[in-house]
Amino acid sequence: MDKIKYFTTPIYYVNGSPHIGHAYTTIAADILARYYRSRGFQVFFLTGTDEHGQKIAKAAEERGLTPREHADLMAGSFTDLWKKLDISNDGFIRTTEAGHMKVVQEILGTLYEKGEIEKRKYTGWYCVPDERFWTQKDLVDGKCPDCGRKVENIEEENYFFLMSKYQQALISHIEANPGYIMPDVRRNEVLGFLKNNRLEDLCISRPKARLSWGIEIPFDRDYVTYVWFDALINYYSATRYIMPGDVRWWPATCHLIGKDILTTHSVYWSSMLLALGYSLPKRIFAHGWWMTEDEKMSKSLGNVVDPLDLVGEFGTDAFRFYLFRNSLFGKDASFSYAGFKKTYETELANELGNLLSRVLSMILKYDACYDGKAARKTDYMTFTTGSEYGKKEYKREDILFAFIDDYERLDFYSVLEKIWLMVRAVNRDIEDKKPWELAKNDTRALNGCLSTWFQFLRIVSGFIYPFMPGASRKMRVQMGIEGLKEEEILDIDIETDFSRIKKGDPLFPKKEVK
Ligand code: MSP
Repeated sequence: MDKIKYFTTPIYYVNGSPHIGHAYTTIAADILARYYRSRGFQVFFLTGTDEHGQKIAKAAEERGLTPREHADLMAGSFTDLWKKLDISNDGFIRTTEAGHMKVVQEILGTLYEKGEIEKRKYTGWYCVPDERFWTQKDLVDGKCPDCGRKVENIEEENYFFLMSKYQQALISHIEANPGYIMPDVRRNEVLGFLKNNRLEDLCISRPKARLSWGIEIPFDRDYVTYVWFDALINYYSATRYIMPGDVRWWPATCHLIGKDILTTHSVYWSSMLLALGYSLPKRIFAHGWWMTEDEKMSKSLGNVVDPLDLVGEFGTDAFRFYLFRNSLFGKDASFSYAGFKKTYETELANELGNLLSRVLSMILKYDACYDGKAARKTDYMTFTTGSEYGKKEYKREDILFAFIDDYERLDFYSVLEKIWLMVRAVNRDIEDKKPWELAKNDTRALNGCLSTWFQFLRIVSGFIYPFMPGASRKMRVQMGIEGLKEEEILDIDIETDFSRIKKGDPLFPKKEVK
C-alpha cells in the first residue's frame, strides 16, 4: 500500500471574505492530513486561491484596486484565517503565480497540438457572475439556471475543448470505480446527467477585448483562458512546483469540494485529464452545505456565519469540533448558535474537559497510593459502554481499526461518535468503580483504575488530534507527555509517568450565558 496521500480543497475565489463554507472544506482536509501524518504517511495538503476571471476583475474595480492588489489583499485574508483555524496545509497555491501559469499554458499547448481544442463561432447566453455559457434550452425563465440572474446574449469566436468525446469514457470510469465520486447520491447524480444528456464541448477562452484578467492562450494572444480551465489545473500544477523532493504526488488521493462544484470537477476536470492521458484523481468527495437554521446562507439575507466570531468566543478547537460533530459529511447541515453552545458545554467542557481534570486531580490527590510510576503499560483497556448504545465492549485496538474505514469514507461523524463513546465510558467507569471508596480500602485496585483512565485519556488525546490539535496538545501537556512527534501521537505503547503531571487551566472553560 502506498504511504502517500495528496488532499486538496477547492481554491477559493478572492472576490469575497472567507466564510464557514470555506472553513468547512479546509478543516476537513486538515483532519485528513493530520490523521494520515500521525499514521506515518507522507502527506501533501494543498489549498489556495482562484484569482483570475471576470468576477475578480469586477470586485477589484469596485474597490478601486488593480486585480493584483485586490488578490494580494484577499489571499491574505484566507491565509490569516487558516492560521487562526490551525490549518496545516503544506502548500498554498495562487493561480496568478508564474509556476501555475506556465503549467496551464503548457497544457493548453499540448491539448491544441493533440487536436483536442478547436476554434469556433459561437452564440450563447452568458452569465457574468457565474462565468458560464448556457444554451437557450438551459435557461429557466430566460435566466441563469444556476443562480437565477440575468444572462447576456453573446456572439463571438472562441476556443472549445472537445469534451463531448469523453462522455462514454467518463461513464465507464465512474461505473468501474464506485469510490470515484462520493457520496453515492452525488455519483448517481453525475451518472444520471451523463447518461441522459448529450455532453457538449466546453468553451475555454475569452477574448481579451472583453476580459484581460486571465492566462493568455499560448497559440492565440488575443484570448485568455476560461477561469475554470485555469483553476482546475491547480491540483496538478502544484505537484510540479510547490512540493520539493521527488515524490510523485499526482494523482490526488481526494479532491474535497462542495456539492455545487461537482460538475466542474467530475466532468470538466476528469475529461481534461483523460484528454491529456494523465491519471484521474482517486476520489472526488462532494460535501453538503451549511445553512443557517435551514435557510441558505447568503450575503443578502445577512445570515452568513463568520468563523472568526465563533473562534473569538469559543476558540478554534470548539469551532472545528462543532462543524464535524453536527454534520454528516456529504449531507447539508444546519448551523445554530444555541446548538454550538450546547455542544461546547456538554461534550467539550463537561464530558472531556471535566474528565481530564477529574482524573488528573485524583491521581494527584491519591498520590499516596503509587510511587510516581504507576502508569505502566497496561493490558486492562476494556470498558463496557452503557445501555444507551447497547451493551458493547470496546477495546482500544478495535476502535483504532474501526477508524481506518471511517477515515477512508470521510465519515468524520462516526470517528467522533466512537471517541465520545470512549469518553463517556470512562466517565461512567469512574462512577461505577467509586475511586473515593477504593482509596479507603483497596489502593491496589485504585492504582489500576487510575492507570487505566490515564491511559485512555492519553489515547483520546491522540484520537482527537486531527479534529482539535490545540486541545490534544493541551491535554498532553497536562498529562506530562508533551513533545511527541506527529507520528507518535497515535502510538499506544509509550511509557508514562504520573510524576510529570502538571494540572493546568480547564481545557474548555465555562462560558457566561449570553
Ligand atoms: N473558485 C471556485 C473553485 C475552484 S476549484 C478548482 C469556487 N470558489 S468559492 O470560493 O466560491 O467556493 C468554494 C467552496 O466553498 C465550494 O466548495 C462551496 O461548496 C463551498 N461553500 C460555499 N458556501 C458554502 C456553505 N454555505 N456550506 C458549505 N460549503 C459551501 O467555487
